[in-house]
Amino acid sequence: MSSENITSVAREGRKFNASRDFQAQANIGSIGAYRRLYSESVNNPEKFWAKQAAELLLWRKKWRKVLQWKAPFAKWFVGGRLNVAENCLDRHLGTARENKAAIIFEGEPGDQRTLTYKQLHHEVCKFANVLESLGLKQGDRVAIYMPMTPEAAIAMLACARIGAIHTVIFGGFSSEAIKDRVNDCQASLVITADGGWRRGKVVDLKANVDRALDGTPSVKHVVVLQRTNTHVTMKEGRDHWWHDVMATASHRHEAKAFDSETPLFILYTSGSTGKPKGVLHTSGGYLLGTTITSKYVFDLKESDTYWCTADVGWITGHSYVVYGILANGATTLMYEGAPNHPEPDRFWSIIDRHKVTIFYTAPTAIRAFMRWGDHYPAKHDMSSLRLLGSVGEPINPEAWKWYHKVIGGGRCPIVDTWWQTETGAIMISPLPAAIPQKPGSATLPFFGVVPKVFDDQGREVPKNSGGKLVITRPWPSMLRTLWGDDERFKRQYWSEYEGGIYFTGDGCRRDEDGYFWIVGRIDDVLNVSGHRIGTAEVESALVSHPTVAEAAAVGRPDELKGQALVVFVTLKNGVSATDELKEALRAHVAKEIGSLARPDNVRFAAALPKTRSGKIMRRLLKEIAAGGAVKGDTTTLEDFSVVASLQKEE
Ligand code: WT7
Repeated sequence: MSSENITSVAREGRKFNASRDFQAQANIGSIGAYRRLYSESVNNPEKFWAKQAAELLLWRKKWRKVLQWKAPFAKWFVGGRLNVAENCLDRHLGTARENKAAIIFEGEPGDQRTLTYKQLHHEVCKFANVLESLGLKQGDRVAIYMPMTPEAAIAMLACARIGAIHTVIFGGFSSEAIKDRVNDCQASLVITADGGWRRGKVVDLKANVDRALDGTPSVKHVVVLQRTNTHVTMKEGRDHWWHDVMATASHRHEAKAFDSETPLFILYTSGSTGKPKGVLHTSGGYLLGTTITSKYVFDLKESDTYWCTADVGWITGHSYVVYGILANGATTLMYEGAPNHPEPDRFWSIIDRHKVTIFYTAPTAIRAFMRWGDHYPAKHDMSSLRLLGSVGEPINPEAWKWYHKVIGGGRCPIVDTWWQTETGAIMISPLPAAIPQKPGSATLPFFGVVPKVFDDQGREVPKNSGGKLVITRPWPSMLRTLWGDDERFKRQYWSEYEGGIYFTGDGCRRDEDGYFWIVGRIDDVLNVSGHRIGTAEVESALVSHPTVAEAAAVGRPDELKGQALVVFVTLKNGVSATDELKEALRAHVAKEIGSLARPDNVRFAAALPKTRSGKIMRRLLKEIAAGGAVKGDTTTLEDFSVVASLQKEE
């Protein structure tokens, strides 16, 4: 898409400042303090990051060089050695944190558990020994497909402890998706559970794993947590119960020091082709990025009970449920289930009962809460809250203001945090006491981050005009490559502009105060309920169905989900277009990818609008999907009657 088409409609003038009380206690309490540190961070980045790394992390061996940048390949803290799990756990032992809650867990059925730092350390050490006894070594890949239970975090931290690379697969993904990911990274171990609870029903995780493992020769072992007590088949020699292998494991485990650039995890995310990308993050830089942003963006303190509602299957769950929060020694809350089970006040009840102080969720959830009604939050005492956060998509000012008033009681600053799986940590966001908030804007860049808005020629656009959001310098928590595919890494992120400029895929505008207003994706990626879905992935799932000749997936604006998924399908000769087939195609996509990608609407078409060179004109399909008239340039369209007939339908 050309940058000329990017316009931001969210305009909201009002600024919100944190209260004096909030400012007085904040880690960074004024705009002046922010500006001073920001200048330091961009004028002398290596000095800034060296200071932060020494202050915030425990290193076994100091680095020789802060940054080695051979664009687009970065190495941070070259020669430094550390252990990520030790940073999250061991270093809090023997301090006042030892017996404080590291994880507060609430299961959907209502079961609760608290693990202190000491207990969490104990479990992670045991599981690290289990991993080693199963033959896992540094650099081996481990797939984790689990419910939101403490064991998911234990599994991640145990991998980190032994230098194995985890790849967490969201529990909503299908067996096909598990198979693709496991095969792409050649995982030798899968960690899963019999099931997980979601809206009072069991999600059959182990059964999905079993189906996937028909076609994954790299997998030698499966460890299965007993969570729902549902019946599962255990394959002799391959499958082991978590409680069996843990029963005999020692809780003593020595954390080895690993090189700063040791891979920590791979996280698959959608891109503009049919195949998900394995975003690779490494140790020192990633941990520093997540630790420092947790401290300053969430104004995290010893006394906080922090709750991020994201699943560990997403980057938010990695950076801001597990690593960044535990590295700071705070308390992280994990909730297993749905926000409306048994009633739509479940989140508010959790905040009330556990006295949550910081709450971080997604705009799509906020819009659902708004729709469910103010009487649900009103039933609970939420005066413990002091800070709110938002992530995943632009938050519309109306939802922002509702969140501020109804959930935050008008007293809590809101941090609208822009970042990506690839960036590892928050990049653009208010610091709650320092940067005045404007509803709908992610405001200003975090330390060391230099974002710009470019036109197609790589020039900065004037104030208040739309363009492409880029990051012009390397940052510690940046992705290092795409697993096994350096070429795709270069093409995808570094080829839009020359000279080591990272292209985010987002459209953006800067206002008169220099605030960033993210418009959303401008590539072929949709954001449905805060989840990234590649249109090409959906299309390739559709054409794998025997009835489908051709398919195009587009987004349509949706009040609740941000975008809804609409697919246009042409059928093979002789296949009749029935409602049953529409349902079958929706189910087929859910089976191929996961229910998060189930199309909201399937539309049959005799043909798809194409350019004379044969490219599908998605812009037209988007306009048709949104119910509007087809505007703009249609001169490259090969056959206009195609559009006319598409508009007639439905
Ligand atoms: C894409 C990244 C970062 C964790 C969750 C999603 C969109 C994310 C915001 C925000 C506007 C946002 C962007 C981005 N996005 N946060 N605060 N305002 N847009 O991670 O799946 O990697 O998706 O989400 O389009 O590129 P992800």
